[in-house]
Amino acid sequence: MQLDKLLQSQGFGTRKQCQILIHRGHVSINNDVVHDHKFRCNTPNFQFSVHGEKFSYREKVYIALNKPQGYECSHRTQHHHSVFELLPDHLIERNVQSIGRLDQDTTGLLLLTDDGQYLHQLTHPKKHVLKYYQIHTTEALSTDVIKQLQNGVELRNEQGLFQALNFEKIGERHYRFAISQGVYHQVKRMIVAVGNHVDALHRDQIAELKLEQLSIQSGEWCYLSESEYQSATVRAISENNT
Ligand code: URA
Repeated sequence: MQLDKLLQSQGFGTRKQCQILIHRGHVSINNDVVHDHKFRCNTPNFQFSVHGEKFSYREKVYIALNKPQGYECSHRTQHHHSVFELLPDHLIERNVQSIGRLDQDTTGLLLLTDDGQYLHQLTHPKKHVLKYYQIHTTEALSTDVIKQLQNGVELRNEQGLFQALNFEKIGERHYRFAISQGVYHQVKRMIVAVGNHVDALHRDQIAELKLEQLSIQSGEWCYLSESEYQSATVRAISENNT
């Protein structure tokens, strides 16, 4: 691929802007400045620097973000920050999108990508990937209420039952469970449906991909390897819910 086209594909601006970057000597390959925008690059594993910062060519990007509180998952926000403020410009320019959404006050694992097929695969309503949440509730959940959540609760204006799967008690008013759907405010509404309230919500795992294995602090992001992003697509084995 020609260098100006490669830079454009990696989010460094329009073809013209990338040509200007090259002509002005801001792009190097193997520590040598390249002034020729027609330079032929051998992808994959192609490495280059822009303004002294090193990059590797990536056909598509798969990103995990450890979302802090107070950030919304949309581009245009009114009352809060946007998660996209936490990403560098070249990723925004590549048009990465969040895969599903977390509420502004929910923390934890959020995936983003510019791979439309991957996004579709994970957000399709029939793709029941388990998403695991740690939940702090206002009141402790009784054994009966836990059973009710495990059996499934109804949510207003939604069809079917919504179950708390793989339920664990972590501590006093602190629980962890997985959901296989992803309707609006699902976990908070499930807890409200049993007469309680969520004080804090944190997503720590999607399918087999665990936030803790990624070593990213709140507000930080990282690229996912192929095995990591594939591990987030593994379907739940038994499904008795729609
Ligand atoms: N369920 C919720 O209620 N909120 C989230 O952010 C995610 C799941």
